[in-house]
Amino acid sequence: MSDLETLEQEILDAVRAAQDVRALDQVRVTALGKKGKVSALMRALGGMTPEERKTMGPIYNQLKDRVADAIAARRQEIEEAELDARLARERIDVTLPVRPEPVGSVHPVSQVTEEIIEIFAEMGFAVAEGPDIEDDWHNFTALNMGPEHPARQMHDTFYLAPDEAGGRKVLRTHTSPVQIRTMMAGKPPFKVIAPGRTYRSDSDATHTPMFHQVEALMVDETTHMGHLKGCIEEFCKAFFEVSEVRMRFRPSYFPFTEPSAEVDIACTFKGDEIVLGEGDDWMEIMGCGMVNPRVFENAGVDSTRYQGFAFGAGIDRLAMLKYGIPDLRQFFESDLRWLRHYGFAALDIPTLATRGVR
Ligand code: DAH
Repeated sequence: MSDLETLEQEILDAVRAAQDVRALDQVRVTALGKKGKVSALMRALGGMTPEERKTMGPIYNQLKDRVADAIAARRQEIEEAELDARLARERIDVTLPVRPEPVGSVHPVSQVTEEIIEIFAEMGFAVAEGPDIEDDWHNFTALNMGPEHPARQMHDTFYLAPDEAGGRKVLRTHTSPVQIRTMMAGKPPFKVIAPGRTYRSDSDATHTPMFHQVEALMVDETTHMGHLKGCIEEFCKAFFEVSEVRMRFRPSYFPFTEPSAEVDIACTFKGDEIVLGEGDDWMEIMGCGMVNPRVFENAGVDSTRYQGFAFGAGIDRLAMLKYGIPDLRQFFESDLRWLRHYGFAALDIPTLATRGVR
């Protein structure tokens, strides 16, 4: 290898070995700087004969160009690598994590309440509300349960401490007082349902101190028992998602309705499972009747002109029946495992449109 080739090789090796711009610059200075080795060659051209210069000039110039090109190429390589390293170092993750799988779920009581509201909304019922802490008059007296009425005993009422006047408020024992509030706040006709919390001092597998009811009230000049039956039947079909439902209206007694009935729907037990709508067993699902004229009078509605029906059902019980939930107490224990098992996805909104119920 000629001296020139050795020199070029050395310089190119040094170029390739340079790891950063500073080291590369060092190499450039030793080759192409004022005192650099290639510069020295170029200077030597000055002392040559014109012939020598003619042959050596292009050789040295080409060497100089190759060295300069190699340095420029290496510089670009180093700069790109440095930029990549910097980009990697200074990377900022501007993305947001996707939302994790939903951990919460809709409680069966909320779900079933929505389903009930949806079904009755289709039938033209509005939602009415009343307070959980109710006065004795709305909860009992106005509903034809005067102070001495024996039916009061059946309610296991929670009483609040007496106020100055000696009156004791109660935690409402049923949603029926919302009937009174609705009628006193407006003028007939009325067509409302009132879902909400109710309270009784009672606790076992099928009773909890707090539970949920839904009340219905329909009042106008012509409403009769046939409307009541039709309405309940339509509700049961839509709610239990069956095309036919066998029902029976058992005569019963409630102070606020006359006549009164309890509604049973046919069912069969298949092992642990219960099939609703058909079969030889009966399941009680609600109390109902034609509004007692005394209740109309108490609520300021002319009982000679208006008539109507009412019913009241336990929401928790409807949820247990529809979704096969065995124990009522677990509804209110806030056990996450239970909620995950029996809960509903937030967007699992009941829709009647798909069932074609009108
Ligand atoms: N309020 C009754 C209860 O809690 C249920 C009920 C029965 C409501 C008959 C009504 C009705 O509106 O007409 O036991």
